[in-house]
Amino acid sequence: MILLDGKKVSNDIKNEIAEQVKKMKANGEKVPHLAAIIVGNDGASLTYVASKVKACERVGFESTMVRLSNTTSQVELLDKIKELNENPDIDGFIIQLPLPKQIDTQKVLLAVNPDKDVDGFHPMNFGKMALDMSTFIPATPFGILELLDRYGVDTQGKHTVVIGRSHIVGRPMSILMGRKGFPGNSTVTLTHSHTKNITQITSQADIIISALGVPNFLKAEMVKDDAVIIDVGITRVPDDTTEKGYRITGDVDFENVSKKASYITPVPGGVGPMTIAMLLKNTLLARERQM
Ligand code: GUN
Repeated sequence: MILLDGKKVSNDIKNEIAEQVKKMKANGEKVPHLAAIIVGNDGASLTYVASKVKACERVGFESTMVRLSNTTSQVELLDKIKELNENPDIDGFIIQLPLPKQIDTQKVLLAVNPDKDVDGFHPMNFGKMALDMSTFIPATPFGILELLDRYGVDTQGKHTVVIGRSHIVGRPMSILMGRKGFPGNSTVTLTHSHTKNITQITSQADIIISALGVPNFLKAEMVKDDAVIIDVGITRVPDDTTEKGYRITGDVDFENVSKKASYITPVPGGVGPMTIAMLLKNTLLARERQM
């Protein structure tokens, strides 16, 4: 079994980006500037956004965090988005999801200038992705592709089973794994809450990508020998023995599944750090496109 070490690979990517930023500075060019809007006080979301800001500092990007209260109206959020769309200093920005109930997420994502949509969530960018056109690929799926690529995991002609059809991970992942090219050329099955007999499907998979958010959902008996296992789950499970009072748990019963897998991502330290590295990569791409 080979561990797909997202911590190490994301560090390599950040070093590569930092090198490019150094060159930009040396040439007197503007460095990439990422902004993040966060609405409300969700602990996990605040942690993710803080990590994104920290990662910007690490590679030499500028960053701006926009914090809005839990009671922010849709109009107020749309005003903020307009401001970032029109600010020439901001190369790309994200709106951390989920958003509070009073806000229509789809309307908000539609308001983002597609050229600054480094999350790749705007329907125009999502459509381009599905049509094999050059665009921003959502950071988590992009990170999974990069991990598969850097470890040379063969995806061509393989049966890839994606668990979960979220707009952020499962749905784009199912499209990307079936695209022409590498990593891709897979035969994809997208499973979800209405899928019947999921074990019958997962046990035929060469590659399983689980983005469900149910701790320890994927058990050893659901997986065939030598399968490639990508665990996107990052659920906070209460744990009094830790300082924070919780631990991060993936969708995969790692202890038992890892004994059968050929490649597997750990949680934490697998897909999570890759998401942030690829957001930086998209922001660099946004800056390069503006030039
Ligand atoms: N919430 C969970 N994952 C993501 C992500 O990749 N981007 C944004 N904006 N929100 C998220």
